[in-house]
Amino acid sequence: MSVKIALVTGITGQDGSYLAEFLLNKGYMVHGIIRRSSSVTTTRIEALYQDRHAQGARLILHYGDLLDGNSLHKLLAQIRPDEIYNLAAQSHVQVSFETPCYTSQVDGFGVQLLLESLRALDLHRTCRVYQASTSELFGSSPPPQSEVTPFYPRSPYAVAKLFAFWTVVNHRESHGTFAVNGILFNHESERRGITFVTRKITRAVAAIISGRQQKLYLGNLNAKRDWGYAQDYVEAMWMMLQQDQPRDLVIATGESRSVREFVEAAFDCVGHKVRWVGQGVDERGFVEGFGEVIVVHPDHFRPCEVENLHGDPSLARETLQWVPKTSFKELVAKMVAHDCV
Ligand code: NAP
Ligand code: GDD
Repeated sequence: MSVKIALVTGITGQDGSYLAEFLLNKGYMVHGIIRRSSSVTTTRIEALYQDRHAQGARLILHYGDLLDGNSLHKLLAQIRPDEIYNLAAQSHVQVSFETPCYTSQVDGFGVQLLLESLRALDLHRTCRVYQASTSELFGSSPPPQSEVTPFYPRSPYAVAKLFAFWTVVNHRESHGTFAVNGILFNHESERRGITFVTRKITRAVAAIISGRQQKLYLGNLNAKRDWGYAQDYVEAMWMMLQQDQPRDLVIATGESRSVREFVEAAFDCVGHKVRWVGQGVDERGFVEGFGEVIVVHPDHFRPCEVENLHGDPSLARETLQWVPKTSFKELVAKMVAHDCV
């Protein structure tokens, strides 16, 4: 059997790094798109990339950008992938309020560029495409959210991802492209970007108990998220491209917890309880032996919030037999342990 070729955009990110590992373990030839940067962005895939000059190396990186249609087109023509995983995005919701036009271009229009390039090369008949869609599409639709829940995006990020979602559906229906939206709820890990709330918390816990940090400034403590483990979720991405028929699916744990509960669970991992005093922006969290540690700060609130994400992954369980392997408690413990080293 010939070796399958995958193209991963966003390979330097949290999910891209786990997915590259997963695909390499499955025997794929993996091509990744990286952006030129003045600082190193390949840390998460460093271990995979070390043998790049070895004969038969199966991970190849190419410079590119989702908005550089020409280089994308040339790359597709050159490598003729069997599967594309489009994970590249400006993925930070709060940042999208400050860079709405850029976020719209990359997260929305970039997907059209990719699918149109594929079609122009007539590769859409053979190549399957996974689009990194998101639970942010549900926005203020009440939980639990499933494939039939109406979308109500609440940020420039979510609006751009909504454009991408329908672009994928439209290519499927108009041109027969095997393209799917993975509607993934929040997933975290030891490799999570440090400005997302979970990693911000676990890094702070490690720094506070070792005396390197005194305060943890947070925004909305009441927001609830359905947090899973990234490594479990990249397997679902692959499974979605192995279906007989393309189908958009929700990937979630089916459990939801607040930011406040995440803080408590993280301090619990190092044997400390949090006591909350006050309300709203005046709320503070006290940790025994460390005093006032958690401070609510208006800077970390969003102009529009998504209050409650809680997924219903029944269809994925039924059609893919996919179930999350890592519990919430295990997820928090892994992240805290990693950051405490
Ligand atoms: P991440 O860690 O922020 O990684 C984003 C990746 O996209 C990075 O490799 C980044 O490259 C790349 N990228 C950004 N702009 C690009 C551009 N213009 N051209 C090419 N590459 C670009 O995000 P993640 O958590 O792994 O998430 C992966 C995807 O899933 C994203 O599309 C995200 O929106 C979506 N998603 C994530 C979650 C979650 O909870 N993690 C849930 C639902 C959906 P640099 O390293 O150069 O910045
Ligand atoms: N980042 C951050 N920083 N969030 C905070 C903070 C803080 O200091 N304090 C409270 N929060 C709240 C946010 O307001 C939000 O309600 C929640 O914590 C989670 O924020 P993030 O971790 O930034 O993630 P997100 O849910 O906005 O977006 C992530 O998940 C989406 C899937 O639902 C990203 O990975 C998106 O790319 C992804 O699509």
